Amino acid sequence: MTILVAGGAGFIGSNFVLDWLVRSNEPVVNLDRLTYAGNLENLVGLQNDARHDFEQGDIGDSALVGRLLAEHRPRAVLNFAAESHVDRSIHGPGDFIQTNIVGTFRLLEAVREYWSGLPDAERQAFRLLHVSTDEVYGTLTPTDLPFAESARYEPNSPYSASKAASDHLVRAWHHTYGLPVLTTNCSNNYGPYHFPEKLIPLMIVNALAGNSLPVYGDGMQIRDWLYVKDHCSAIRRVLEAGRVGDTYNIGGWNEKPNIEIVRSICTLLDELRPKADGTSYATQIAYVTDRPGHDRRYAIDARKIERELGWKPAETFESGIRKTVQWYLQNPEWIAHVQSGSYRDWVAKQYGQEMVA
Ligand code: NAD
Ligand code: TYD
Repeated sequence: MTILVAGGAGFIGSNFVLDWLVRSNEPVVNLDRLTYAGNLENLVGLQNDARHDFEQGDIGDSALVGRLLAEHRPRAVLNFAAESHVDRSIHGPGDFIQTNIVGTFRLLEAVREYWSGLPDAERQAFRLLHVSTDEVYGTLTPTDLPFAESARYEPNSPYSASKAASDHLVRAWHHTYGLPVLTTNCSNNYGPYHFPEKLIPLMIVNALAGNSLPVYGDGMQIRDWLYVKDHCSAIRRVLEAGRVGDTYNIGGWNEKPNIEIVRSICTLLDELRPKADGTSYATQIAYVTDRPGHDRRYAIDARKIERELGWKPAETFESGIRKTVQWYLQNPEWIAHVQSGSYRDWVAKQYGQEMVA
């Protein structure tokens, strides 16, 4: 048996592939276009591992996906491939429409063709697992209940709108064609191999480089943080036992305002890598102009996956953020390599020249 993972060179996908092959000998075909966010350095540990077959390519390339499916005959396809950064979707939504909507549509069609030609037993056992986000539900007020699976879709950014569209396509391919799909909607992840355009790795990398720590608006926006390896364990569990056609919300019960996240990173760095001049990294915090249309609060009600599938996160925020900061301190070369020309261009565009180290 084999699984096909799309987007397995990105942050969550590479953590998923690495964890999968620690736990199982079932081979992985990893299809990834290697955009700026895809990084084969995340997977160096698998370089000589015959269980990992990396293919560079686009989920929207129907011929390629059809060929991979026919050759490897996977029992499941997991779709992590996406454009994933809200700020980039504000500057240029086109790539988000192309990959997250058109790409998912093409992937669904290629998978449907393959699945419908499988012998009965294999067709019944087959699963397509689509990895999505809590951002499709829009924003919460401070007193709203966390998002359950029944919450209305109210996406507010080009990113979340494109993910919402992909979720709808996945749902429709199940209802119309019977494709055995599973969808997961997860809260914000953090952990190793997180590209330093997102809040947590950006703050660690900027702090260490002596750059300012740009907090949007008043810093009181709330996200619900989950350690990436807990997200991976939830996906494995949904793949194993999830009810076909169902959606599972995944979260860590860890709602925190952004400024608190930034301050806890500074405190950890003060302990683990104190500055030579004795000042705290917190002196680098700088409040900057808010993101347009910025969602105020996300929170996930993760009771369904706990009740039905017995899944719970293993890490607390305190244990997960410590592991994460330690990982970045131990991997300066990974940081240096991802800060390529295109990364520097992004930082200059988003934050202005003064933040380019
Ligand atoms: P990421 O941006 O780090 O990785 C995305 C990967 O997809 C990259 O390796 C990229 O090269 C690849 N890719 C992009 N376009 C592609 C295409 N057309 N064909 C093939 N590969 C392509 O993103 P991530 O943070 O790892 O997120 C993975 C998935 O999880 C996304 O679908 C995202 O919406 C979802 N998600 C992310 C979070 C989070 O906090 N990061 C939370 C919930 C859900
Ligand atoms: P991000 O990591 O981009 O994830 P998302 O927007 O998908 O939740 O941002 C997390 C939060 O941190 C979000 O409220 C925006 C905020 N943020 C900053 O304050 N400064 C930054 O430089 C970045 C990248 C994000």
